[in-house]
Parts: sequence; structure tokens; C-alpha cells
Amino acid sequence: MNPITWFHEDRKRARAERDPCAELCALATVNADGKPEIRTLVLRDLEDTANPTEGTRLAVFINDSSPKWPAMAQVSALAYFPVLKVQYRLACATAPVPEALVHGRWQDRPEAPKAMDWYYAKRPQSSPVASRSQLIEEVGNLNLPEPLVAPPSARGLYLLPFAIERLDLNQPDGIHDRRRWQRPTPSSPRVGEPPIAKAQSAASVLDSGWTEATLVP
Ligand SMILES: Cc1cc2nc3c(=O)[nH]c(=O)nc-3n(C[C@H](O)[C@H](O)[C@H](O)COP(=O)(O)O)c2cc1C
Repeated sequence: MNPITWFHEDRKRARAERDPCAELCALATVNADGKPEIRTLVLRDLEDTANPTEGTRLAVFINDSSPKWPAMAQVSALAYFPVLKVQYRLACATAPVPEALVHGRWQDRPEAPKAMDWYYAKRPQSSPVASRSQLIEEVGNLNLPEPLVAPPSARGLYLLPFAIERLDLNQPDGIHDRRRWQRPTPSSPRVGEPPIAKAQSAASVLDSGWTEATLVP
């Protein structure tokens, strides 16, 4: 099965079983100093109007005042569904979500995060502020636009996986099931170069262009 379809199916099962992690991922980036950084983000299902045949895409919503924004050309996302005992690791390129789509979805946000998105123009996300009381006062004193629309800094990024790994701990024999799928992208090694070539000796190519390999768990 196409691994993205498999991921969506697992997520559907996780949602049905009220897995508290079904809507989340941990997203890792490498900053300008070469240091790894990671944080929890909501992982969204979003249509991609430029590629309707691809169906639903994974996406994240962030504010471009954040120091993570310039580091997001390539990201690693980790999703663990405790109820299923299934972990996914996704190595992804990214592409911008059209502004109209981001701004439409932004309207569904609760009041406080909406205000925060406007506040980031005054103080960028993740910058220090003297105290929590100063923060609350400044957010309360914002002149928000009417009608309330998204600021230009509210952004969305599609996650475009070029490598996916699924680890399923829930095996009757106790031996975990671990598989990896890879497909070439402009920014990842081409077939014939490592590491994809290495994987292919024990791998099969799916119709969808993904190369599948079983890994030692
Ligand atoms: C459950 C949960 C969901 C979150 N969802 C988002 C999100 O969708 N977008 C976002 O920018 N930050 C989200 N955050 C906050 C981030 O984890 C992080 O604190 C923030 O983005 C600042 O990270 P940075 O300093 O790396 O920019 C979420 C945090 C938690 C705990």
C-alpha cells in the first residue's frame, strides 16, 4: 500500500479510538547553527488545490515570526499513536499552503491564538518578554482589525514526505514490524546513489513510485 495512504488509515483508526496523539506530530528542524530543534505541532489534513490528484496532504500551521520558519525547507516529523502502538517518522520537503486556504482555516482558531498571531508583529514568537503579566497586558491592548482576519505572518506548509518509516509494536509474536519507503525528490539522493541504492537490494518498488524495504526493528 502507498505509505501515505497507510498513514492516513492509521490516523483514522487512532481518531476512532480517541488517541490523544492522533492530531499531533513532533517536528524537528536544524537551525542556522546546525543544532537540532523539535516541537509539538498540530498535524493537519489539507486539500492541495495545485495537486488535486494527490488528495489530502499533511500540513502544519505556523507563524513566520518564529525562528523555526527559515529552517523549514526540510523537516522531520514524528507521529506516535499510543493507542495503536504505531510510530511514523516522515522526512519531508515542504511547500507553502496558498494564503487563501491558510486564512480561511485561520478563522476556525480560538480567540486567544488569533490575538497571538497579531501580537507576533510586536514581539516575534519565541522572543523573551519581561513577564507573563506584561505579555497579557500587551495582548489585551492590541488594536485588532475589524473584521478579524489573519495577519500575513500566519503561514501553512505542506509536508511532502520523501521517506516514511512505520514501526508497529503491536505484533502477536512480539517482534516489531518495521518498514521504510523512499522516493526520490529533487532534494534527496537519486536512485543509484546511497542511501536509496543501499535499500533497493532488499526492496521492492510500488506502483506509486515508492521503494519499500523491511528493516530490522
Ligand atoms: C499540543 C500542542 C500543539 C501545538 N500546535 C502548534 C501548531 O500547530 N503551530 C505552532 O506554531 N505551534 C504549536 N505548538 C507550540 C509549539 O510546540 C512551539 O512551542 C512553538 O511553535 C514555538 O516553537 P519555536 O520556538 O520552535 O518556534 C503546539 C504545542 C502543543 C503542546
